[in-house]
Amino acid sequence: MTSGAAVDAVVRAGGAHVAPLMARVEERLAQLATGYGATLADHAGATIAAGGKRLRPLLVFLAAGEPGALADRLVRSAVAVELIHAASLVHDDVLDHAPTRRGQPTVIARAGRTVATATGDLLFSRAFAELAENGEADDVRALSAASSSLAAGELMQRADAWDVAVPLERYVRRCELKTGSLFEAACRLGALAVGGPAETLARFGREIGIAFQLLDDVLDVAGPPSRTGKARGTDLLDGTVTLPLILAREGDPQLAATDLRALDGPAAAEEICDRIAATGALDEAKRRALELVEQAKGELPALPDGQRRALELVADGVVERYA
Ligand code: IPE
Ligand code: IPE
Ligand code: MG
Ligand code: MG
Repeated sequence: MTSGAAVDAVVRAGGAHVAPLMARVEERLAQLATGYGATLADHAGATIAAGGKRLRPLLVFLAAGEPGALADRLVRSAVAVELIHAASLVHDDVLDHAPTRRGQPTVIARAGRTVATATGDLLFSRAFAELAENGEADDVRALSAASSSLAAGELMQRADAWDVAVPLERYVRRCELKTGSLFEAACRLGALAVGGPAETLARFGREIGIAFQLLDDVLDVAGPPSRTGKARGTDLLDGTVTLPLILAREGDPQLAATDLRALDGPAAAEEICDRIAATGALDEAKRRALELVEQAKGELPALPDGQRRALELVADGVVERYA
């Protein structure tokens, strides 16, 4: 789901109430970065204005269904989830030394580590201030759990850096912490607002979130750069070992013996990407992501038809990112 068109299709499938709610999220997001000095307004504002698919706010609304009188609460929840996402990306780009994000220079590239750290901190803080307005302790607990998981997931990724023998289960757990947890929180917040089936929808969110990260990791190896906005093998150069390499090592002894620290630049990383692709590991990784998505869809609770279809569509979109 890299294209705005795919997301628009889900917005339409969600029902006539979804597009106006998404518009309210944009309006509110645009207001939130101001009031804390020009530097933070500039960088936090630019981060938000650079866009993104707004997948997590959409999930809040799809998990809720028709909001009735609860639209204000839902919009605040959706805004808060997107702010946590934006904050985590700003900090992630510091940890990953990423030059670009959403087609623009990252905050770390533009303004350095201090400003990037403070910008992420501001976005995290604004998220909780927004959510607190709901006056619901369960909402704050749900988002705090996701935010804490994100921190643990990023640390785990650092701890595992360069370890090509990282166990599959540990990699999947990392995906759950880094990405599944925020998808889970988005669905939980939507369900909580309307008194819906929070646990089952939270599980659905977690599973499609893990699948989303699996696909993101496939795309890092598969490219093409014109689509992903970054060179193939960026994760490898960073020492981040992901599912394609974990699977490919099983069938290719030369890959299994490769030390990522010895890669001396983008061309060498691309060569490893080609070797990984030659083992069939990309298709196998995609198959596993699809399996997770099917499992998530199969576990959806009883919901109105339209709402169910929209959630199924969003789940499918997570894996259609890789053609
Ligand atoms: C990127 O998430 C980070 C991952 C969890 C892989 P998105 O692909 O949802 O990022 P934006 O918001 O659309 O840019
Ligand atoms: C996902 O990890 C980012 C977060 C959950 C914070 P990645 O490092 O794989 O995301 P990209 O590739 O930078 O978007
Ligand atoms: Mg990253
Ligand atoms: Mg990535």
